[in-house]
Amino acid sequence: MIKVLLIGNGAREHAIAEAIRRSPQPHKLYSFMKSNNPGIRTLSEKCELGDYNDMEKLSSFAKNVGADVCVVGPEAPLDYGAVDALAKIGVPSVGPVKELAKLETSKAFTRNLARKYRIPGSPAFEIFRDMDGVKEFLQSLDSFVVKPDGLTGGKGVMVHGEHLKDVSDALRYCESVLRSHASVIIEEKLEGEEFSLQSFTDGRFVLDCPPAQDHKRAYANDEGPNTGGMGSYSCADHLLPFIRKSDLEEAHRITELFARAIEKEHGKLYVGVMYGGFMVTRDGVKLLEYNARLGDPETMNVLPILSSDFIDLCFGITNGALAKTKAEFDKKATVCKYVVPQGYPDNPVKGEKIELGAAAGAKVYYASVDQKPDGLYMSGSRAVAFVGISHDFAEAERLAEEAVKSVKGKVFHRPDIGTQALLDKRVRHMEMIRGKK
Ligand code: AMP
Ligand code: GLY
Repeated sequence: MIKVLLIGNGAREHAIAEAIRRSPQPHKLYSFMKSNNPGIRTLSEKCELGDYNDMEKLSSFAKNVGADVCVVGPEAPLDYGAVDALAKIGVPSVGPVKELAKLETSKAFTRNLARKYRIPGSPAFEIFRDMDGVKEFLQSLDSFVVKPDGLTGGKGVMVHGEHLKDVSDALRYCESVLRSHASVIIEEKLEGEEFSLQSFTDGRFVLDCPPAQDHKRAYANDEGPNTGGMGSYSCADHLLPFIRKSDLEEAHRITELFARAIEKEHGKLYVGVMYGGFMVTRDGVKLLEYNARLGDPETMNVLPILSSDFIDLCFGITNGALAKTKAEFDKKATVCKYVVPQGYPDNPVKGEKIELGAAAGAKVYYASVDQKPDGLYMSGSRAVAFVGISHDFAEAERLAEEAVKSVKGKVFHRPDIGTQALLDKRVRHMEMIRGKK
């Protein structure tokens, strides 16, 4: 009997839990959550509620249930050293140790590694610990992006032309970042279309999931504030309408080079997920950032169509045997749409009841909701994700849209995600960018 420990309580972890439970091997799932996710609870043998920085509680839960392997969902436990703590009691994890989770938690770590090991795909960038030279570097770029060095929940990145009007604006922002962070990164602003490539790695072999595209803006037509991601899609051919196979190969190569560079630089293997946020530009594929975990919502595009054994995959990753492990994904399109509370992300309603309609044909993944005896209540963040899956892209979109539209309560969603009109817009944008050369 294989005992799998899962850390996390969002829709991503609900999808991970489901993938674990589909394994044909005898197994039991144990989940460590910060709050009660009804979907994960139903799939688990036993759940423990605790904070992600409570290593003692986590370790004793892992020991008590006799965990054989752990899958870490979110970035916070990685940053708190969950993988290191579990390793001490002999439990291997799908996830990097704290030192290597810096791939996500420190943008300077990642950019410096690329520079030192001459990994292609970085924009022009400089890292500053104080304001010396900041103005000159900003002035040397046509357009720029300013990033704090550290975890900011996706909210600290400021883009010229969107959030920053000019160099003076950027200087003020850099000063404020340096008051709370050790350094600030300034990058050339790139133009293109973004995609997510989530890869599993045992530190040497890199195995990609089909690529997906997330939608960060809150409202239709990519308007409104940035969010954790309102929805995402993937295509039956395991490409995206605006990328070529060679773009994917380039992104894969970058991730392989990073894995190799990490081993050389740190003398240990990066084990877990390397999820690259890439951008296809007129000069090829560029890396915007890495995450050290699976994406949310992009997990819901890939794990539901994984037809091979996820538990096998986990052991392939932790045992250094990924090259010999099978991972097969159905050739199906997926469209994921989140229903979120009104006012999300800046001023969401909280504690409001929602009722899910008949999600006929769509998969349902619970996120920031609490199951009470009299119903389901939203806690303020993205509430429930719905995923349509079909050989036909339009049908996948229809299934997700029907399901998300049937939710009753103080909610909204993005009806445009996965529509042909939005796909066409992305394709035209990319054609324009490529044509610029
Ligand atoms: P990051 O957290 O580094 O992925 O940045 C968040 C978002 O900022 C990305 O998803 C992009 O939309 C944007 N972004 C980051 N870096 C750049 C860049 N060098 N050029 C253009 N946009 C960027
Ligand atoms: N899709 C955005 C994230 O997982 O960070």
